[in-house]
Amino acid sequence: MLKATSELRRLARQARASGAMEAILASEEQVREYLFRTHCVARASVSLMQAAARAAKARSRSDPVAAGIVDYLARHIEEERDHARWLARDLAALGVPAHELEERLPPPSIAAGVGAQYYWVQHFHPVSLFGYMGVLESSAPSVTTLKKALRRSPVPATALRTVLWHAERDPEHAGDIWACLESLPLLPRHHVALKASAEATLRLLRANGEELLARRRALGPLLRRLEPMP
Ligand SMILES: [Fe+2]
Repeated sequence: MLKATSELRRLARQARASGAMEAILASEEQVREYLFRTHCVARASVSLMQAAARAAKARSRSDPVAAGIVDYLARHIEEERDHARWLARDLAALGVPAHELEERLPPPSIAAGVGAQYYWVQHFHPVSLFGYMGVLESSAPSVTTLKKALRRSPVPATALRTVLWHAERDPEHAGDIWACLESLPLLPRHHVALKASAEATLRLLRANGEELLARRRALGPLLRRLEPMP
């Protein structure tokens, strides 16, 4: 029998960012932008999970799916608690001061992608967030790809500490999410919500990647003009 999460796992596999890492790590400017955008997503993680935990607790007496995610969310909130702060530290290693993270508006594509998750958590069912988390936990590049790209990159490894940490730990985190979902008495409506959440997260990651590459194309002529003459 197919596992209840097999379609979600298939969707989540599409998220892996390995292909893009070499292009991102080619310049400090690209990495600053990549880390800024990763910070925009990460700064919402704990409050999103707290919203899901509150919604799940409120339903838990009469809803076994909601009751089954409360403990997982409490644990995972602790695992993710400081990640935005770690990314701010890594950005500081590239000369980006903390106040810039407060002053620059997070991209609309990220606000829309994360905002959709709040909506489904609050107004449909908190288990939907597991589609989002499953895709994000599957999106880190592999450690091998990352280390190989780093060797060729002008960017100091200190700027990639959090990215590397995720590359090492996220396969296990994704496994925890699938295991939790497999333990729940999911109904068709929950599967529909999980799939919609996972697909919206893939669209968010794709838009983010396209916007990063579009910046690179726009900056390309300028960077070439700034390169020293041979
Ligand atoms: Fe993780």
